[in-house]
Amino acid sequence: MIEKDFIPSAYQHQIEEGKVTWKSPSNIALVKYWGKKENQIPSNPSISFTLDACATTTIISCKKLAKAAATFSFDLFFEGKPKEDFKPKINTFFKRIEKYLPFLKNYHFTIETSNSFPHSSGIASSASGMSALALGLMSLEKQLNPAMDTSFFYKKASFLARLGSGSACRSIQGTIMQWGHHAATENSSDLFAIKPSYKVHSVFKNYHDTILLVDKGQKQVSSTVGHNLMHGHPFAEERFKQAHKNLLALKSVLEDGDLDSFIKIVESEALTLHAMMMTSMPYFILMKPNTLEIINKIWAFREASKTHICFTLDAGANVHILYPEQEKEEVYQFIKNELVAYCENGQYICDRIGLGAKQLINKVE
Ligand code: PMV
Repeated sequence: MIEKDFIPSAYQHQIEEGKVTWKSPSNIALVKYWGKKENQIPSNPSISFTLDACATTTIISCKKLAKAAATFSFDLFFEGKPKEDFKPKINTFFKRIEKYLPFLKNYHFTIETSNSFPHSSGIASSASGMSALALGLMSLEKQLNPAMDTSFFYKKASFLARLGSGSACRSIQGTIMQWGHHAATENSSDLFAIKPSYKVHSVFKNYHDTILLVDKGQKQVSSTVGHNLMHGHPFAEERFKQAHKNLLALKSVLEDGDLDSFIKIVESEALTLHAMMMTSMPYFILMKPNTLEIINKIWAFREASKTHICFTLDAGANVHILYPEQEKEEVYQFIKNELVAYCENGQYICDRIGLGAKQLINKVE
């Protein structure tokens, strides 16, 4: 599919008002997206586990305006309170997607959003937030065009979410999502994420992700700045090639359930992401001393226990600890006894691989 395929023809239906609610999760990349081209096109393909507990719920209510507005008309509430500082981001998002959702200027929108995870936990809310918003807008478009089929609905929701925040396109469905053109993956696209067509081994069912909140402060470098630092980065081209190779290797690993190889790819990807930041100009170190303490403890425990615990990182200091369902008791004990001490205020989130976003039924008022 190409961009043009997401521009709708004239709507068959009209609605005066509507209300929709979506709950959409965050995701954690196994092969990382870092570096992008114009229009949120990734410089390399990526793959992620969709999460379950870390999610954003967004209610969108809309009312038709007497005549189309010159600018986007919307109110925004975060956890029940007006949130003026989120508005420019939504406005930019609306501008980017207007071509694909031409009804946007015909309505006034009230957007009410809340997160399941603690505010300013350093957990990226853009993936869950932008995917919940994109799905809500798609549900409204579906009311204008009831003939739209489910597969197109999800593809376009992912396409729109990508224009809000790249990684958000991988939050729409579960349990594993791949985004970005990859020669060895049929139907892969830079425009939206897909579910890989191969059968994933049962060891990945209920896979756990315990997120250790090492540093809940503001991000030192925004992901926009970070992605841009890959332009002219001395190691960028090799890194992009490596991501293609790792994605191919991970395909067999996910099919065969080879956890030792899984660990090697996932940990190497996490450290490579941080290595790219450490070797850009300007350079950054996003890990904190406690991030390294935790990594060393994980390695020592893995060696001693022969479990398959491993870590991955986002663009920050928090550590995602991944482990299979069968080893959850032993690993969880270790986390509680030895790792929680390295978390800010002892905070961590128990999450696991999830099935993707869900539409919630609005209560009748
Ligand atoms: O979606 P963005 O633009 O915030 O980028 C996120 C990039 C990483 O989280 C660091 C990696 C990834 O693939 O999710």
